[in-house]
Amino acid sequence: MIKELEEVKKDFLNEINSVATLKDIEQLKIKYLGRKGIISDFMKTIPTVPAEQRATYGLQINTLKNEFTSLIGDVTRRLSRGAIPRTEKELFDITLPGKQPPLGKKHPITQTIDDVKEAFARLGFDVAYGPEVELEYYNFDALNIPSDHPSRTDFDTFYIKNDILLRSQTSTVQIRIMEKQKPPIRIIAPGRVYRPDTVDARHSFMFHQVEGLLVDEGVSFTDLKEVLNQFIKTYFGKDVQMRFRPSFFPFTEPSAEVDISCSICSGKGCSVCSYSGWVEILGAGMVDPHVFKAVHYDAEKYTGFAFGMGIERITMLKYGIDDIRLFYENDIRFLSQF
Ligand code: PHE
Repeated sequence: MIKELEEVKKDFLNEINSVATLKDIEQLKIKYLGRKGIISDFMKTIPTVPAEQRATYGLQINTLKNEFTSLIGDVTRRLSRGAIPRTEKELFDITLPGKQPPLGKKHPITQTIDDVKEAFARLGFDVAYGPEVELEYYNFDALNIPSDHPSRTDFDTFYIKNDILLRSQTSTVQIRIMEKQKPPIRIIAPGRVYRPDTVDARHSFMFHQVEGLLVDEGVSFTDLKEVLNQFIKTYFGKDVQMRFRPSFFPFTEPSAEVDISCSICSGKGCSVCSYSGWVEILGAGMVDPHVFKAVHYDAEKYTGFAFGMGIERITMLKYGIDDIRLFYENDIRFLSQF
């Protein structure tokens, strides 16, 4: 290295070693690396150097510049962490009230899933999960949904390729769990499901469900009714009523759709419940023997019930939210209310 540069380096090292405050280091930075600083002055002399030495000379200046930059960076970081004593004025006044950083919170959907998990944990239910990208077998075949069922067509389901799709229901987890475990089974399975619905205030191509499955010897429809009754009272409150309507699902028999008295108008009738006083929140029923056959359970020995509930739906009902799209827009004004 040429002599002048060596001198500069020596000076720099001396000075940086005696730096005590962030202000000092800032000044040092301006002095050496600033637009009119020492390094910059050297750069300007490059064209005056004989052509054959120019490259080496330039390289040396650059190396020095990089060294200075990195040392200044190190010292700045150490000073900001308070590693080196600062001047009296800069000392941190521990008697000042602290600054509260803005606290984030859980998304309302996540909160509802937590609430649901907790309510069912009290009834002895474990939590299970299954994949969102799923085999057609778990979404349909094993659930006794025949190959000519309309929900199997491309218009009703998102296919990745032939037999792989985005699951349209969390009922897939019923099969996955029963394949792996022997009864007694007592699980809930929350998660996302996908259907190519046109987005509006009530519909979304992606939403959340929570599946429930209980299988054991001697399980009856009254067990299903009481488990749901317990949940609904815990989640919506004691005054909410529940009713069962006969329905059909290929994987349950008998099947029912379950309504609760509209929590917005307390059953008097409003736009949310289409002036009927009731709103549907889930589908349920006794596990169909065909499903037990698919997972090699003895249908003579075991019975069970299953249900699938819409997470957005119950959240909207509980808090009086009238548009499902609000959940997905990341608008802090909406999210911070929960
Ligand atoms: N999987 C059904 C749906 O998405 C709901 C359901 C689950 C019904 C379990 C019965 C039993 O509509």
